Amino acid sequence: MPEAVIAITGASGARYGVRLLQALCDAGWQIRLIVTGAGAINLDLECGISPAELASDPAVTLEENDNLAARSASGSARFDAYVICPASGTTIGKIATGISDNLATRSALVAMKERRKLILVPREAPYSTPHLRAMADLSAWGVVILPASPGFYNAPESIEDLVDFVVARILDQLNVEQNLTQRWTGDEVGSQ
Ligand SMILES: Cc1cc2nc3c(=O)[nH]c(=O)nc-3n(C[C@H](O)[C@H](O)[C@H](O)COP(=O)(O)O)c2cc1C
Repeated sequence: MPEAVIAITGASGARYGVRLLQALCDAGWQIRLIVTGAGAINLDLECGISPAELASDPAVTLEENDNLAARSASGSARFDAYVICPASGTTIGKIATGISDNLATRSALVAMKERRKLILVPREAPYSTPHLRAMADLSAWGVVILPASPGFYNAPESIEDLVDFVVARILDQLNVEQNLTQRWTGDEVGSQ
């Protein structure tokens, strides 16, 4: 069974991470879930749930962010992908400078050194120059920077539609079949 590490950090947009976790569980993935302290604040504020409640699915193992002995902290333990969703500027900045002071950042450095799929889903407006530079470096090093920037070309009608747009792009990156959004066919413009 494929295994993903998902981290919810302290950027706004916790519900992107919640939806991603649900979608991967539905697709049969095992999940190691990390929620940072600031991530837990936003999870409560925006979704009204705790990390433990989010980890109630048997496919999900909740890891402590300060446990640097957890599985994903070691390159010898295999996982297929790591998605930080949402990714705070703080966590992004740390990863770009090689700081691995907690499980969320350590797992990212492990994913990078082992050349595994690492996807960051930043949310900030506007972005600061240090964070833009960090993202440019990480992108050049093979990290996927997938901003929480939903498109509007498929006429979203709800917040769920906007969330699904972003989560669908993440699932595409993971080669997970999804029908959360309609795919562009090329016939849309000029056909109304
Ligand atoms: C309510 C709230 C909303 C926040 N929203 C964002 C945000 O959208 N993007 C961001 O980069 N940081 C945001 N922050 C700041 C981060 O939470 C802060 O930089 C924190 O140190 C991140 O730590 P972490 O990366 O360990 O989760 C927010 C903080 C709070 C309390």
